[in-house]
Amino acid sequence: MKNLIDKYGRKIEYLRISVTDRCNLSCLYCIPPEGIKLVPKEKLLTFEEILRVAKITVGLGVQKIKLTGGEPLVRKGIVELIRKLSEIPELEDLSLTTNGILLSSLSEKLFQAGLKRVNVSVDSLQPDRFREITGGGELSKVLLGIDKAQNLGMKVKVNTVSLRGFNDPEILDFVQFSQIKKLEVRFIEFMPLCGNGWNQKLFIPLNEAKEIIAKSYTLKLTDGNGVATVYEIENGGRIGFIPTLSEPFCSGCSRIRLTSWGGIRPCLFSNIEYRILPLLRDGSPDEKIAEVIIKAVQSKPEYNPYLAQKTETKEILMRNVGG
Ligand code: GTP
Ligand code: 5AD
Repeated sequence: MKNLIDKYGRKIEYLRISVTDRCNLSCLYCIPPEGIKLVPKEKLLTFEEILRVAKITVGLGVQKIKLTGGEPLVRKGIVELIRKLSEIPELEDLSLTTNGILLSSLSEKLFQAGLKRVNVSVDSLQPDRFREITGGGELSKVLLGIDKAQNLGMKVKVNTVSLRGFNDPEILDFVQFSQIKKLEVRFIEFMPLCGNGWNQKLFIPLNEAKEIIAKSYTLKLTDGNGVATVYEIENGGRIGFIPTLSEPFCSGCSRIRLTSWGGIRPCLFSNIEYRILPLLRDGSPDEKIAEVIIKAVQSKPEYNPYLAQKTETKEILMRNVGG
């Protein structure tokens, strides 16, 4: 097994694949006011192309693959893609991040196809507020999906983007949810991407959430994933914080991304993109594609460019780079 090391010595072992830019929700922090122009279907990677890139990157040293979107579960045939990815022998970890709307109907098939863990976005535990944040989503469907996935034996983590004026009164409700469901809840700092209306008034620095929680619970530091700092609390709860802006974690970043339209991006916040779609479609050999992936890794910025410029990265659509 080779090692993929960037020029700052970071080992790259995690590929995030956006399988579609389509989504069945329109969360207020994801959609720019002018709306989203969808990528024409013929420009989206096919499953064969995704599988090929996945195998090449695993051959280069990637050990973890995450499927994202848009919403990955709206892509037809996703179960078959998971089955094929889960058969890659050296791949140690395969997961998916979803808004959970289709999870209850697909969880059994996903599990049988080899998906053992899933992250689900739940930005409010109040049905009305959930509908408001997600542009019409039904909280009950998502909660049913979480229960089904857990009952099957899948590991579930919950993501909640902290938004002042929306879900800040629910911080302790999420902590209790973590205890009741015995799953990890991660509070995420709202990131300024894709013209999503980020502003300081909406932003909650996560030390604020942590202080609120620490008044009522004992937080015991445990293993994180390089992005989230995770604490155990009483009664089986696990609470994580993903503080992209207030405590950046770029020095430990091990990630690269494959966009739904066939580009390799070395950083969530960077516009740098190496197009591999043309190579996938012109008969280029795997070695040529591997070269481009290595180049992309070598161009990975030392820090997330937002931290230097402090301006919203309007051109980066979460739906294409998958969070
Ligand atoms: P796993 O622990 O492997 O499941 O990964 P994860 O928790 O990072 O994945 P998930 O898709 O659930 O993302 C959680 C949050 O982390 C989302 O808000 C992502 O946008 C954010 N995130 C994921 N990767 C990066 C990254 O490279 N940089 C930054 N700043 N945020 C990231
Ligand atoms: N800031 C922080 N997290 C975000 N996500 C989507 N947009 C943003 C943003 N602007 C989260 C989603 C999902 C994950 C893939 O990324 O809530 O859980």
